[in-house]
Amino acid sequence: YILILDFGGQYSQLIARRVREAGIFCEILPYDTDVEKIKSLNPDGIIFSGGPNSVYGESSPKVSSEIFSLNAPILGICYGGQLIAEQFGGKVMRAEKREYGKTELNILDDEGIFKDLGDNLNCWMSHTDFISELPEGFEVTANTDSCPVAAMKNSEKKIYAIQFHPEVNHTEKGTDMIRNFLYNVCDLKEDWNMGDFAEEEIQRIKNQIGDKRAICALSGGVDSSVAAVLVHKAIGKNLTCIFVDHGLLRKDEGDQVEKVFKERFDMNLIRVNAQDIFLSKLEGVTDPETKRKIIGEEFIRVFEREKEKLKKEFKDIDYLVQGTIYPDVIESGTDKAEVIKSHHNVGGLPEDVDFELVEPLRELFKDEVRVLGKALNMPDDIIMRQPFPGPGLAIRVLGEITEEKLHIVREADYIFREEIKKAGLENSIWQYFAVLPNIKSVGVMGDGRTYAHTVGLRAVNSSDGMTSDWARIPYEVLERASNKIVNNVDGVNRIVYDITSKPPSTIEWE
Ligand code: XMP
Repeated sequence: YILILDFGGQYSQLIARRVREAGIFCEILPYDTDVEKIKSLNPDGIIFSGGPNSVYGESSPKVSSEIFSLNAPILGICYGGQLIAEQFGGKVMRAEKREYGKTELNILDDEGIFKDLGDNLNCWMSHTDFISELPEGFEVTANTDSCPVAAMKNSEKKIYAIQFHPEVNHTEKGTDMIRNFLYNVCDLKEDWNMGDFAEEEIQRIKNQIGDKRAICALSGGVDSSVAAVLVHKAIGKNLTCIFVDHGLLRKDEGDQVEKVFKERFDMNLIRVNAQDIFLSKLEGVTDPETKRKIIGEEFIRVFEREKEKLKKEFKDIDYLVQGTIYPDVIESGTDKAEVIKSHHNVGGLPEDVDFELVEPLRELFKDEVRVLGKALNMPDDIIMRQPFPGPGLAIRVLGEITEEKLHIVREADYIFREEIKKAGLENSIWQYFAVLPNIKSVGVMGDGRTYAHTVGLRAVNSSDGMTSDWARIPYEVLERASNKIVNNVDGVNRIVYDITSKPPSTIEWE
């Protein structure tokens, strides 16, 4: 068991993910967790995450020195590494220039975390402070041109510190460094997988909900479907899934979801047709964050109304299950991270939510949710579905939403998806869809002038939605989609293809 102490780093969950991928159970706790609690957890190793502070700042987060005598090996990353240097009497200083991005690392050690990794690798740096003086008992194990102590160790105490981020993909062999720490330094073996996660979560949910009732916000997408199946395994018939058709779904989607869940899973399912209410609340609204908040709130109001109806039949329904995943949480902003967009199920939630939330996937990334779905024996056509955002087409019709615009984007999206499928690309592109940018331009059709909408096509590849690259779709496929959309969807005379990555863009346009 590995304990990750979180100092507020951007990548703390990514560290946890790497440990899980290495087949080892881990948990993230705040850096100021009581030492007695840490002792009782008896970790086989502890990882200190990065964080936004400077270790020499007055109120900067520290750990009790008792942690260093627990006999558990320690790996400090970035801020975590600097903290080790400082607490052992070394020195940390502010560099003149921030070091950011890919940097060449000279490795001076062939043991511990660097075992069998060679002499030179590219690593990912993101820091201003650096370890300028080595603490007693430590030796330098790697440096870069501008960072004299890019890594250090005290082999006797099994304490390792690194300045760069082994958990991000840009660090070459970063995963191997983490695995070296787990397997060589902590002497752990791969003995945990998503099947274990499922069992642990099912047990936790049983304890949380007991014999009470819960409703699940089901969209038919990967995340909410996996959450529903997991909770269903925990509380069975005490779970009722509520599928809201908010009028912002893709073509035929409402009927498909209803059919799949009624036929394949033996679950209670209620479909709520709330098109009119959502569309009237969104009337005239153009700001993307406002749209997201209206939708987030309206979802909750629908669930509350359904709860009242169900109460007549059953007594208490205190719990709302949501398929929230980690990127939803981080993009919606936390007390440390900035708001990028308010995901409907996190930042878009109203303040007065009359439910206790059950969010079993809150710490997982999208691809991990798919692995979990597989471990739960869910069929591929559900767990391999492309992501679709909860606010649906509302954030794909830019600016004001009207029935006419929804119709255009829905039809264009359908044609684009069909062409992708015909070209056999359905399973090799992570997400693909149409947007309506709210631009009209001049065209000529037959012998006449047109002044009509532009449709944007977007297709991206990604592993977790946190970053993405635009998909290199063959021109012929784009050409066929373009022709078909212009010829079949009234009100459209121009098609553009989005060729930006995330960052600097995001996947959705709003
Ligand atoms: P962005 O646009 O932030 O999207 O790059 C990343 C991934 O998240 C999906 N997305 C959402 N999913 N509720 C969701 O359930 C939301 O409010 C939401 N906003 C974006 C998006 O489709 C992409 O897969």
